[in-house]
Amino acid sequence: MEQTYIMIKPDAVQRGLIGEIVARIEKRGLKISAMKMGFMEEDKAKEHYKEHVERPFFGALMEYVTSGPCVSMVVEGKDAISIMRKMNGATNPVDALPGTIRGDFAIETGRNVVHASDSPEAAKREIAIHFSESEIVDYAKIDEVCLY
Ligand code: TYD
Ligand code: MG
Repeated sequence: MEQTYIMIKPDAVQRGLIGEIVARIEKRGLKISAMKMGFMEEDKAKEHYKEHVERPFFGALMEYVTSGPCVSMVVEGKDAISIMRKMNGATNPVDALPGTIRGDFAIETGRNVVHASDSPEAAKREIAIHFSESEIVDYAKIDEVCLY
């Protein structure tokens, strides 16, 4: 079972897209094993996006992700990392196919609605930035419970 870190970014929260995005994740069959809402602290935002620190868009990215509350999640399931990357769609929404979250709800790279970890190493690192172990909940979904 894989775990991945998902963020519903401030623009999506502001636009009332939390339910839409959470619903897609649940309907796909993935499990939400942690979830919280709040402003991302600046040092966490920097740590989260540290691979981009030298890029010209880094300042704008920091401003954007801390501009309003976001929803952070740990999403779990078989192949959760690559499934969530595909569900989000391409980084630049112009290239994101219809049916993906970015392809359906975004038009700008700088306001692209969602984040998902891009590898098992990134997932582990990002989950540890945003959640303590005690915040990640262990439970069985109905399809994991043997009823008979
Ligand atoms: P990146 O890790 O390349 O994309 P992804 O979110 O798909 O993993 O970039 C991180 C975020 O930085 C991206 O979601 C939006 C922002 N960004 C820009 O604002 N401009 C850019 O040219 C790029 C590449 C990213
Ligand atoms: Mg990335």
